[in-house]
Amino acid sequence: MVVKIKDSIYWIGAIDWEVREFHGYETLSGSTYNVYLIKDEKNVLIDATKNYLFNELMLNLKSVVDPKEIDYIVVNHGEMDHSGSLEKLVEYTGATVITNEKCKEHLELQYNTEGWEFITVDDKEEIDTGNRKLKFIKTPMLHWPDNMVTYSIEDKILFSNDAFGQHLASSERFDYQFKDLEMLFEETKEYFANILLPYRMLVPRVVESLKNLDIEYICPSHGVIWKEYIGDILEKYLEWSSDRYVNRAVIVYDTMYNSTKKMAYSMGDGLMDGGVEVKIYNLSKTPMNKIMRDILDAKYVLIGSPTLNSNIYPPVAKFLAYMEGLKPAGNKIGVAFGSYGWMEMATDVIKKTFEKLGFKVAEDECLTCRFVPKDDHLSKCYEFGKKLAQMEL
Ligand code: FEO
Repeated sequence: MVVKIKDSIYWIGAIDWEVREFHGYETLSGSTYNVYLIKDEKNVLIDATKNYLFNELMLNLKSVVDPKEIDYIVVNHGEMDHSGSLEKLVEYTGATVITNEKCKEHLELQYNTEGWEFITVDDKEEIDTGNRKLKFIKTPMLHWPDNMVTYSIEDKILFSNDAFGQHLASSERFDYQFKDLEMLFEETKEYFANILLPYRMLVPRVVESLKNLDIEYICPSHGVIWKEYIGDILEKYLEWSSDRYVNRAVIVYDTMYNSTKKMAYSMGDGLMDGGVEVKIYNLSKTPMNKIMRDILDAKYVLIGSPTLNSNIYPPVAKFLAYMEGLKPAGNKIGVAFGSYGWMEMATDVIKKTFEKLGFKVAEDECLTCRFVPKDDHLSKCYEFGKKLAQMEL
């Protein structure tokens, strides 16, 4: 499939309907690897696809232009989801790779780049392709140190690579084609929470600098092209990077014989009756990335684990490692809870993660329970939930 964006500019990427794993992110909605073609005196490709989608990319490219006529391939970011097909693409087209020094280094460490022609560009450098100029703006850590975006000045198009993307396979290529805009923004938020969250402090400066550009289209490398909702997505990025929270509690647990589950539900009831929005997730049944989407701007994070073999339950340990790496904002209240048989060990592990993240840890005697919580214990959990709902940060 090829989609014309405006004169001489085409989407020629690949839709990956089947991908379900992306370095720990369960991509239940699939993804796309967007490649853009600019036809000019110098023909340019912006980014590439994963290795296994090379044939699809070539099929799309050939339907618009002879691949041998590609002069430049702009590589905004060296991660393999955008560069996996580069070796074959460079060999087939003979094109020169335009990228920055850091990305060149990353490409050389991942691929056999012997014989490749490179043009390295610095921040705000421009290249003339005939009827337009391409300006390169470095955006390090969004998502790797090598990231940059490419702005086509005359076309008013920003090729933003990972920024503003979503892992979302769809037949729609533009935001205005979506009937369910709320779903689109939720997918974008989930992507932000699982890809860009650790680097969110860099986002406001980037968004402010983009506001100074005249932008008609934002063309990311995953998901849909922003056209009608550019202002909205820029504002959402500022909101998600602001560390502001809403009155939401995310209760995450796993359980062996339902004891930790019962405690989770009783605390959830108390929080709900206290006026807090509650989300309860069983880790065995929910992708971690869905949970992180809700944790991003939650006030409360409650994590429950049974103790198994004098240690935390392994699925909960996995989630703690994932969350810790994503570094959600520290202005949250953390609650560690769980059941045990003869030696309680799990809640200390959870609390250590909360402390590393800067969460304020709430304590109560009801938060651990030997074997099965009886009704009186669950009542205490409920009351604790209600009390928690009034707690100030
Ligand atoms: Fe879509 Fe950081 O790669």
